[in-house]
Amino acid sequence: MVETKQLDYGKQSLQGSIAVPGDKSISHRAVMFGSLASGETKITNFLAGEDCIRTIDAFKAMGVNITRDEQTVIVKSTGVAGLKEPVIPINLGNSGTTARLLMGILAGLPFHFTLFGDDSLSNRPMDRITIPLKQMGAKIDGRDSGRLLPISLRGGNLKPIDYQTPMKSAQVKSGVLLAGLMTDGTTTVVEESKTRDHTENMLKAFGAEIESEGTTVRITGNQPLQACNIEVPGDISSAAFFLAGAAIIPGSHITIKDVGLNPTRSGIIDVLKMMSIDIEATVTRTVGGEPIGDVSVKYSQAKGTTIEGEIIPRIIDEIPIIALVASQAKGTTIIKDAEELKFKETDRIEAVVTTLKTLGVNIVPTDDGMVVEGGASIKGANVHSYGDHRIGMMIAIASLLTEDRVELENPSCINISYPQFFTDLEKLFHS
Ligand code: S3P
Repeated sequence: MVETKQLDYGKQSLQGSIAVPGDKSISHRAVMFGSLASGETKITNFLAGEDCIRTIDAFKAMGVNITRDEQTVIVKSTGVAGLKEPVIPINLGNSGTTARLLMGILAGLPFHFTLFGDDSLSNRPMDRITIPLKQMGAKIDGRDSGRLLPISLRGGNLKPIDYQTPMKSAQVKSGVLLAGLMTDGTTTVVEESKTRDHTENMLKAFGAEIESEGTTVRITGNQPLQACNIEVPGDISSAAFFLAGAAIIPGSHITIKDVGLNPTRSGIIDVLKMMSIDIEATVTRTVGGEPIGDVSVKYSQAKGTTIEGEIIPRIIDEIPIIALVASQAKGTTIIKDAEELKFKETDRIEAVVTTLKTLGVNIVPTDDGMVVEGGASIKGANVHSYGDHRIGMMIAIASLLTEDRVELENPSCINISYPQFFTDLEKLFHS
């Protein structure tokens, strides 16, 4: 039986102020780097979503002492030298970030590992990370000539690398930098466009020397990490659903508090501004190199625009909800240079286009994005989340634009990044 959620909220404006759960990218990294560091790392506002729990379980399998009490995680480790060879295969679930970053770390350890994931992850390309890791000396093989999970990896004796990433991917950049940390020498990664820099910021917080200049990052190997406390900012990629919803649902006005405003992630605010939405972000403090603040948005008549180039990595996870905003705009919105969408939890070009079409939007796919006609009237339908948390949340926001009932199949995938999504959404309902 397919699990279905009836989204029969009707037209609902959003009002008030909430904080969203911790950032997924930062939560993963805090557990990983805490496990590589000597001492006790306390992580607060940790995202207890399914993906980040996979990262915790992977390091527990390597003997790290990790305990969790709601949103607080304590990692006690003796550093890289204390990690052990896991006796069982590591289950990565749905998590691409766990897969790519973890492989970078495992490549530096003198052990054998077997990695596998769920159906979605098993169809996502892993050669983007295994190619540079093999060049550094790791022995890796897997399904489809080593391109897909399950993968088996034997690490150790890595050499540094100068690597130009062929795709805009922070996961690949981070995986190579983490492998570089396990070598004698300096590893350099050069990107075409700057991607999220949480790895660089957090490695500094753990005491590592790492230099960034434009789109080049350089790390010196064999630096010991020192445990530290990490406060995880609210996840702007989760906040994006409410910000976008308030922007397009008449009568809305909300504030999201204590959310991460790292410029490599906050492109959603720039895009909403480009679309003439009344939105304002204020940085209130910076923790571990990560700016945190409040974002307020008021309903405004959106205008179509063209979204392309260097902003794409800064909104890569927000494109599904941006497409919904575009459907309510005056005029046409063109999204280009976003071919990376094909390699997410599902092919998000196909998933967004098919779903929004079913809900009444005039939208067509292109090779590297989509073209969305504004002025759509959203109508009720039965739609599938594709097992993709961000498609599921986009559908939930779309349902607030119609009095019709929207039936969402497989809503529980939202637990990947936002287990309390519906509770938080309902807190913002204006009754
Ligand atoms: C992430 C990077 C992005 C993003 C993913 C998390 C990370 O993937 O889509 O949700 O934590 O580094 P790519 O870097 O592959 O684009």
